[in-house]
Amino acid sequence: MRVSASAPGRVNLIGEHTDYNAGFVLPFALPFRTTVTATPTGLDEWTVTSDWSPGGVTRFDRPQAAPGSASWVDYVRGVIWSLQEEGHEIPCADLHISSDVPVGSGLSSSAALECAVLTALVELGGLDIPTEDLPRIAQRAENDFVGVPCGIMDQSASILARAGHALLLDCRTLETEHIPFDATILVIDTKAPHRLVDGEYAQRRATCEAAARELLVPALRDADLSDVDRLSDPVMRRRARHVVSENARVLETVALLAAGRVHEIGPLMTDSHTSLKNDFEVTVPELDVAVAAALEAGAYGARMTGGGFGGCVIALVEPRDVAFVTESVESAFARSKFTPPHAFVAAPSAGAHLEK
Ligand code: GLA
Repeated sequence: MRVSASAPGRVNLIGEHTDYNAGFVLPFALPFRTTVTATPTGLDEWTVTSDWSPGGVTRFDRPQAAPGSASWVDYVRGVIWSLQEEGHEIPCADLHISSDVPVGSGLSSSAALECAVLTALVELGGLDIPTEDLPRIAQRAENDFVGVPCGIMDQSASILARAGHALLLDCRTLETEHIPFDATILVIDTKAPHRLVDGEYAQRRATCEAAARELLVPALRDADLSDVDRLSDPVMRRRARHVVSENARVLETVALLAAGRVHEIGPLMTDSHTSLKNDFEVTVPELDVAVAAALEAGAYGARMTGGGFGGCVIALVEPRDVAFVTESVESAFARSKFTPPHAFVAAPSAGAHLEK
């Protein structure tokens, strides 16, 4: 029996660096997908091939955790390992992978790969795992096998998202709500090289955890702005202020969307960017220039999306303004002597599913 499954990359509408603080996020799935075709081998060996390395074959038997390694095949191995750690037995298979999710742009190509492999293997092994448990299993592959200390947002978006909706996720309870979202989001890939990403991300996370400990709360989700003012260290205070204010912005965004006041979420998006720039300090000049140029060209709001230190900006725009905003950002990049950006409109798309 041959099984095919696909899973998408994501952008995050709002709620950045809140997932590992037990807070709220509001991502949606992109129309770009990674597809895995799994064919049982009947042997004690896995083989992995891909469209982007023709002739390249990776073979392994039982994957052993080797945190620190970072080949894309480790995400595949990691998912098999994570399923085995949860006590699931799956027959070895040939896994062939193709993808149109941009890599290195902060659009969660790794989550798309993990979630496509996971969806295919659950079907192949006839495993009885509730869909809502899958993001955690994929995240475990990334945390404990690959060694990246990410939160649960990307895998949740890739598995659970619905077309035409953003996904409100409470990262503490893992409760979800599908929020209808029908507006034009322009994604601007700044092409900025990711700088120091891993170490900086882990450091932000550690600072947030230290702030929660100092405030004697389980996570920054449980703090308010008056708590933040009590923190002794000024850097910690700024990091915590971002998280606390960002959680409030997610909930305000959801309330505005529910009231049909979609354009009014623009200022919240822009405030989110300002907070990520000044308080959380995860932006780079390319992200700031893209946001400023999009706003100047008439976007309702704009912000970096994802972990930061490079990657993409999203702008909420009128459909008729897409070309003008794109050109304005391109001109601003040319003036700043940055690599030309790549912009596209993204509609909220479906999460992981089997392919016929
Ligand atoms: C990366 C991580 C996510 C999340 C974002 C920031 O994308 O993988 O878990 O923490 O950064 O919101």
